[in-house]
Amino acid sequence: MDIDKVKVIVRLRPESGRSIWEVNGNTLTSTRAVQGKATRFSFDGVYDEKSTSEEIYEAHIKRLTDAACQGLNGTVFAYGQTGAGKTHTIRGDEATPGIMPQAISDLFDIIKRNPDTQFLMRVSYVEIYNEEVRDLLSPSTVELKLREVTKGCFQAAGLIEPVVTLEAEVLELMRQGDHRRSVGSTLMNAQSSRSHAIFRISIESTSSGSALSRARVWLAFVARHSHVLVYGLP
Ligand SMILES: Nc1ncnc2c1ncn2[C@@H]1O[C@H](COP(=O)(O)OP(=O)(O)OP(=O)(O)O)[C@@H](O)[C@H]1O
Ligand SMILES: [Mg+2]
Repeated sequence: MDIDKVKVIVRLRPESGRSIWEVNGNTLTSTRAVQGKATRFSFDGVYDEKSTSEEIYEAHIKRLTDAACQGLNGTVFAYGQTGAGKTHTIRGDEATPGIMPQAISDLFDIIKRNPDTQFLMRVSYVEIYNEEVRDLLSPSTVELKLREVTKGCFQAAGLIEPVVTLEAEVLELMRQGDHRRSVGSTLMNAQSSRSHAIFRISIESTSSGSALSRARVWLAFVARHSHVLVYGLP
């Protein structure tokens, strides 16, 4: 299976001027030659400005959702400078849902299609802001303390992790968490996420005669690029 490899997918966002990148299959070529040489980079997937989050979900993420229901862990990690489109791609909005709501919808479809299997699903949503871990599902803004449970493995003490049974319930928790998330504005993004956020779905499943299988789907937003000061963070 190729889901045991780390895959790097690049998505170009629409720009006001002309893009300096050309997409050829899974290769990006800069139209600005450096010392007479074209700059070319290859990835596991390259998506141009016209691409949709749905296309990216179907091609790369759906297989992680399916695998999670069979007991395998998966992580989706978005990285890029402010305004690059991390929130747009992972979270999206009503009109253009990101990969997170699509994964949730698929998970509930899988549950419906497997009436002989019992699933127990829990969700959590945290942000890391100024080195503090905050629970986005909690109305209080108290910092969560990290505890090392086994060597190198940390747990946030007191994290709220409700059991969910309906898709609408998960979407509502996500909406409440988004509302509590720290946002500010940069020169490149009026609604800039100021924190790293991790939305986690834990799935346990059991069918008659088989052992309990447990998987955690991690969907993570990672905000901000190390060179962000250049782009106007106060
Ligand atoms: N592929 C795209 N197609 C259309 N609009 C996009 C695309 N990518 C980003 N945008 C728009 O650009 C703006 C900035 O995107 P977004 O908020 O997702 O950036 P971000 O990477 O999360 O930035 P930050 O680190 O500041 O939170 C938003 O208005 C978003 O809707
Ligand atoms: Mg963002």
